[in-house]
Amino acid sequence: MWRIFVSDRIHEDGLARLRAAEDVAEVRMEPGLDPAALAQALAQGYHALIVRSRTKVTRDLLAAAPSLRVVGRAGVGVDNIDLDAAKARGVIVVNAPEATTDAVAEHTLALLFAVARHIPRADASMKAGRWEKKAFQGIELAGKTLGIIGVGRIGAAVARRARGLGMRVLGYDPYLDQATLAARGVEPVADLATLLARSDVVSVHVPLTPETRGLLDAQALAQLKPGAIVLSTARGGVVDEAALLAALDEGRVLGAGLDVFEHEPPGATRLVTHPRVVATPHIAAQTREAQARVARDIADEVLAALRGARLRWRVV
Ligand code: MLT
Repeated sequence: MWRIFVSDRIHEDGLARLRAAEDVAEVRMEPGLDPAALAQALAQGYHALIVRSRTKVTRDLLAAAPSLRVVGRAGVGVDNIDLDAAKARGVIVVNAPEATTDAVAEHTLALLFAVARHIPRADASMKAGRWEKKAFQGIELAGKTLGIIGVGRIGAAVARRARGLGMRVLGYDPYLDQATLAARGVEPVADLATLLARSDVVSVHVPLTPETRGLLDAQALAQLKPGAIVLSTARGGVVDEAALLAALDEGRVLGAGLDVFEHEPPGATRLVTHPRVVATPHIAAQTREAQARVARDIADEVLAALRGARLRWRVV
């Protein structure tokens, strides 16, 4: 009989699925524990751990959990899990990469509209009793070029929506061939420099890895068309925040829509409070529908891992 520990809050749908399983003895959800308390709890013989992004599944945490067989990430990004350590200990890692695609794609476009039409500042100005039509002249998206970096599920979902807005969509992804990129609805470009030079809007949809850390650094941002918009709903660290702030200050970047940050929460930094930045607190996947789906998906996948069944989304 399996014992499952859930260390970040997940939707009730997922918990209900776990509790309904005949081979599950215990499902304990206790969000907000500090690393030492979590290690102490896991040492009591839990077989599965389900996390979102808050819990850091470190080498030390894994070492403190000798009975652990599987870590389930209720979401896409696994940069909060030490995958090498999990592999070395024979702990399976699974995620739920499909459930949040639409939510993140919609939020990416929400940020784009918000930046292009100054929605947050116009709203704040109205709420302050003002009527400043001239201050908020925006730009249109129809006819503009969107460059997507990373054409996986989310990149492709953003591309579909952007085409519907009348945008031309370019895509760069070194892991996909031209035919696959075209099938995913983007015009393939050979390299990042070409994408940056040709796009009015650039959106990143890659995981954070040693290769993608600082992908949009000062050198890359210098290759952007003057007046481009930068969007990031993937992971903090892919866009170099100091370099982005400098590009905004110098007027080379028109605006940015950011949902993810190098350090979360970032506080009211110069970047977050910049007048041409629209910032949200890592909520792109945070819809009712996506969170219910993600919890159901990860519950099923963790149960499959415990039972030795076929896995849909094994990471290691
Ligand atoms: C994800 O990786 O699934 C999203 O960024 C949301 C999250 O981190 O919970």
